Amino acid sequence: MYNNLLTRISEGVLTITINRESKLNALTIETIREIYDAIKTAEANDEVAGIIITGAGTKAFVAGADISEFANFNVEQGTEMAQNGHRVFNAIENSSKPVIAAVNGFALGGGCELAMACHLRVAAENAKFGQPEVNLGIIPGYAGTQRLAQLVGKGKALELLMTAEVIGAAEAKELGLVNHVVPADQLLAKCHEILDKIKSKSPMAIAKVIDCVNTQYQKDKPGFDREVELFGQCFATDDFKEGTNAFIEKRKPSFGKLLSV
Ligand code: COA
Repeated sequence: MYNNLLTRISEGVLTITINRESKLNALTIETIREIYDAIKTAEANDEVAGIIITGAGTKAFVAGADISEFANFNVEQGTEMAQNGHRVFNAIENSSKPVIAAVNGFALGGGCELAMACHLRVAAENAKFGQPEVNLGIIPGYAGTQRLAQLVGKGKALELLMTAEVIGAAEAKELGLVNHVVPADQLLAKCHEILDKIKSKSPMAIAKVIDCVNTQYQKDKPGFDREVELFGQCFATDDFKEGTNAFIEKRKPSFGKLLSV
């Protein structure tokens, strides 16, 4: 049914697997669109009481937005990419049914942002988290500047965003970025265990809990719009061209000096 996702419903739980293992499940625009469709379809399906999002294979949850796809984007395309990503990730965050990220490896850039848009995050011991966009001459465009600060606090978020440091599952747990860390072979079982508990509660009350918490943290916050605007602006810069070309050419980037923003 989807080109980039596998979906399976079992015992009231929809599992969405991002299925681009050879590209470490990097998110293309089409993949993001398919995630939106899968979430909206699940919302309308009475058989689904909860959702798990994970990545194919054992190495990556999602290693980011697909760099080769956006490397030649202009400002309009970059802005549209961020607007679209915000719409999809907001739909996950605002899903009336609980959504758990089962982080089975690298969760970098858009992958970390996808995990953060979910209501809960369970990580395998080998999971790695980071927002490495500044290595590419861009900033996060799927609300990473906002949700990372919400989850780990402003100081640590700024450190992770500016250093592009990649952290392990144990540190992510310490920071409050993930709810649980488990051995890789117990990852999905742990997610099901949590959803089993939630499934026994009132779905109406669960939906209202999600709405209330999101109202505090997400709605009408200008930082989300500012991120879209500044993400788009990156696409007019030499640093963006250098950063993305360096990744594609598998070399270290050499950035210019800050003259103005
Ligand atoms: N976009 C597009 N392709 C990606 C990708 C991304 N975000 N992340 C990984 N890939 C591709 C690689 O280009 C490679 O493809 P190839 O085999 O056709 O050359 C394949 O996935 C495997 O990745 P590779 O880099 O060879 O694996 P590795 O184990 O050496 O390194 C990472 C793993 C995650 C450290 C490295 O892939 C990486 O840094 N990815 C980009 C992370 C990033 O900057 N994300 C934010 C994007 S906004």
